[in-house]
Amino acid sequence: MQFVSVAEKAAIACEKWNGRGDKTSADQAATTAMRNAFNEIDFSGRIVIGEGERDEAPMLYIGEELGKGGEAIDIAVDPLEGTNLCAYNRPAAWCTIAVAPRGSLLFAPDTYMWKVAAGPACKGKVSVEMTPTENINAVAKALNKPVSEVNVCVLARERHQKLLDECYAAGCRVQTIDDGDVHGAIATAIPNTGIDLYMGAGGAPEGVLACAGLKAAGGEFSARLDFTLDPKGKEKRARAEKMSSDLDLDGTLTMDTLVSSDDTAFIGCGVTSSDMAKGVERYDDGSITTETLVLNASDHTAHLVRTCHKAPEGLLHL
Ligand code: FBP
Repeated sequence: MQFVSVAEKAAIACEKWNGRGDKTSADQAATTAMRNAFNEIDFSGRIVIGEGERDEAPMLYIGEELGKGGEAIDIAVDPLEGTNLCAYNRPAAWCTIAVAPRGSLLFAPDTYMWKVAAGPACKGKVSVEMTPTENINAVAKALNKPVSEVNVCVLARERHQKLLDECYAAGCRVQTIDDGDVHGAIATAIPNTGIDLYMGAGGAPEGVLACAGLKAAGGEFSARLDFTLDPKGKEKRARAEKMSSDLDLDGTLTMDTLVSSDDTAFIGCGVTSSDMAKGVERYDDGSITTETLVLNASDHTAHLVRTCHKAPEGLLHL
């Protein structure tokens, strides 16, 4: 619940910037609130996935130690996933955190990653090693429905034109999203979202967060880094070669490579509404409500935590 509270505080802080066209201020508000809230907790947190390297991020930088001391825990964060979604008041911006025992989250290089994600029925049946058509057919078979009813989520990016063409040729439905592939990937494991399969290239750090969520939800996640999509790819690859000599930079990354512990949790608090969590709601009396999705790998539970942050003179809204 303490980590839920961290995500809630970040969501409330950045929601003030919802629809104001300023993604930098929105992200900054979430980051500051998240960091302050982490520092109130009795734990020894270490940022593994954060806002960037120490020299480029003033807060929640990779390696930053947080908390008042206690159990050693690794943290992956995207304080505001979908900064543009928040800035332009579009659905599915959320504040995300993954927590796991020390040493169990991959220090993923900040570059691109091809990702394939699907729900529990597709475990072991989809992979970045397979073609999009093979993945779509495998999902149709696992879910026992025709290919025409398989719904694939893809980030709307030019680099995905070939992927989109192949999806349409295979005959499935496609839902393109402007941003937020952690959301898109985890949605595959939550039936009411209607998304069956996620495919495409997005941020590698976001891949670790998505993997933590899918691990907890019992879904499948398979990935491969791609430095060629990144304008600074050569530099980043050289750096990754130095820093993570045991990581296969060209190979398939399994769920256990990205998140090695089964004692992990994913927490996502809605900023703008989606099928997985409602956004922040403010009431005239000053009270605020939030909704947070908590996926726990250790006991396979999912909680949707709806909280009313009551104003001193406000009412409790639920
Ligand atoms: P932010 O949270 O930084 O706004 O990133 C949003 C996002 O859409 C991620 O979900 C995704 O992994 C990445 O950006 C894709 O990167 P790009 O916009 O460069 O294609």
